[in-house]
Amino acid sequence: MFSFSLPVSSEGGDTSFQNNVPDPVTSGDELPTFKFELERSTGRVLGGSYGKEATVSQLPISKGIAGVSMRMEPGIMRELHWHATAAEWAFVTEGRVRTTVIDPQGCAETNDFEPGDIWYFPRGHGHVIETLGEKPCHFILVFDNGYFSEFGTFSITDWIGHAPKELLAKNFGLPASTFDSFPKEEVYFARGKIPPAVPQPPLQGWKAPPLTHKHSLLSQKPFETFEGGIEWRVEAAQFPISSTMTGVVLEMEPGALRELHWHPNAAEWQYVLSGQLSVTLFGSKGRWRQEVLNQGDVGYIPQGFGHSIENLGADKARILIVFNSGHYQTIDLSQWIAGNPVDVLSTNFGQDPSVFEGFPRKDVFMTK
Ligand SMILES: [Fe+2]
Ligand SMILES: [Fe+2]
Repeated sequence: MFSFSLPVSSEGGDTSFQNNVPDPVTSGDELPTFKFELERSTGRVLGGSYGKEATVSQLPISKGIAGVSMRMEPGIMRELHWHATAAEWAFVTEGRVRTTVIDPQGCAETNDFEPGDIWYFPRGHGHVIETLGEKPCHFILVFDNGYFSEFGTFSITDWIGHAPKELLAKNFGLPASTFDSFPKEEVYFARGKIPPAVPQPPLQGWKAPPLTHKHSLLSQKPFETFEGGIEWRVEAAQFPISSTMTGVVLEMEPGALRELHWHPNAAEWQYVLSGQLSVTLFGSKGRWRQEVLNQGDVGYIPQGFGHSIENLGADKARILIVFNSGHYQTIDLSQWIAGNPVDVLSTNFGQDPSVFEGFPRKDVFMTK
């Protein structure tokens, strides 16, 4: 059997490759779909707040990475919880958000986020997410395990609600009656007052962790600017706590192409922030598939599979891309060809050597 929930190392993405067992989802005669219309799905709804998810249940190819679109109204809190089988990487798209996260050393950090900011919570670290201010917030959560479901998190009310009151009384050194009116079932979205503008100190006082859980991605200088657009990128080198995930935002001009390439060390999870994109997938043995992704759609590229992204629209498009490795690696087709001598290329393609004189001498990455 292929792996179910093997830990994902910071060195590589899907460790199931090490078993050399073919993945039945991607080893058939045809490539399966790699697109899921996330924002068109229903998910879990509470009034104007929701969580919509893309796991292997919705998108079977996406074994390495799962994602969630979450919107929360003012005064809504995604309650204290942890994820037993995945780290959480997030990108804020609208509104303002506050998180508080605990680590195994008892250090806690509270951070406020705006659009373009990201957070990373290591697997198993407890956290809470609150909407700040009078406007709703929206963010995309990405998990380094495609089998992980947001609706299978370990929530504090679920736990306390199912523990005997006497046990809780002993645990906290309080009368059992303290817990009489605590929720009996998982709350998931808690509703309350709008949080204070300045975060209040934890019960234990401030005790900051050595590494921050927050990184401002879009407010930074782009990682690189190309003929056809802009790339922002954050990996563990810039955001050390994010040891198992890398994030990229590509802004692509009309007609721009993120060239044919593959990632040796990671699977790729895509979410279209704006615009309409054509994504192609190459899977050996002549297998080729193209999907058109619109705003709010998710795409998934298995580790090592060839792919490209092209802006089909008349306006700029933006795509959020997350990898299940803290180290970014790519091999672009133009770079691969540029790394070979003309005689090799000439023989390989059965062409006159002069054909290759016009090929790029370096990596193209993005063009239009
Ligand atoms: Fe979470
Ligand atoms: Fe890619």
